[in-house]
Amino acid sequence: MDEARFFELLTWAMFVAAAGALVWSRFATAPYGRYARPWWSGPDLPSRRAWFLMELPQPVGFLTCFVLRDRPAGTGALALLGMWMFHYVYRTLIYPFIPRASTMSLSVVAMGFGLNAGFSYLNGRWLFALGPDRGAEWLCDPRFLGGAALFLGGWALAVSSDLILRRLRRPGERGYRIPRGGGFRFVTAPNYLGELTMWTGWTLATWSLAGATILAVSAANLVPRAARNHRWYRERFPDYPAERRRLLPWIW
Ligand SMILES: NC(=O)c1ccc[n+]([C@@H]2O[C@H](COP(=O)([O-])OP(=O)(O)OC[C@H]3O[C@@H](n4cnc5c(N)ncnc54)[C@H](OP(=O)(O)O)[C@@H]3O)[C@@H](O)[C@H]2O)c1
Repeated sequence: MDEARFFELLTWAMFVAAAGALVWSRFATAPYGRYARPWWSGPDLPSRRAWFLMELPQPVGFLTCFVLRDRPAGTGALALLGMWMFHYVYRTLIYPFIPRASTMSLSVVAMGFGLNAGFSYLNGRWLFALGPDRGAEWLCDPRFLGGAALFLGGWALAVSSDLILRRLRRPGERGYRIPRGGGFRFVTAPNYLGELTMWTGWTLATWSLAGATILAVSAANLVPRAARNHRWYRERFPDYPAERRRLLPWIW
């Protein structure tokens, strides 16, 4: 099988995986954090090591595609490389080490590792070999400009919301509190809203199906999880803010 065919099959396999995750979410929630279920999901890893390992294929795979590229990288492609690395240096090297006391099932880490390896291959190979060459003119294209703005805005919302969550616990604490401030004034899951906005921006800025695979799989995971989290808070906290929506301010 030549690479173009393999690339196409893997792209569609990712959309099938997204549909599968959506169906699966009707029956179960990914077993980490508040939904950890060690009795069926296998052994756990400390969450720092888990996040680091799970995210590692993204920067390494993408950089490998850049180094082994089949053609000179245009300015537009370099800007997209910068956006990808900007996020994944944070997600791989900084986020896991912000203090937390939690674990993640090895099955979730293995699944995340495999998906992330696929995403970095699809996006890296598309950008540096198989897709159209993105030169300097792409930087002025409205798809790139709008996409980059969404990517950065989503990133800021995701990072600021994750920081609010990660600061809720005192050292050694493992329980849950009601998060307040920032995007939590409007929705239960502003970190997921930020993440999905970011990948919408990436899809637009790359104008590719490869970019859309991350958006589809992320949405299939995070939209049901946001709804589940919302219900979870309401069941446990009688004073949970009534006006707060699940994921979309004022709407849902
Ligand atoms: N693209 C994708 O498909 C994808 C998939 C998953 C995650 N992500 C991204 O990765 C980041 C983390 O996701 P996540 O699912 O781990 O988020 P999360 O469930 O909201 O948890 C984030 C961190 O905050 C802690 N925490 C959450 N709610 C808390 C509360 N009420 N009180 C005290 N501590 C609380 C969690 O502790 P515990 O671990 O102990 O619950 C965890 O350390 C997000 O930005 C998300 O968008 C992306």
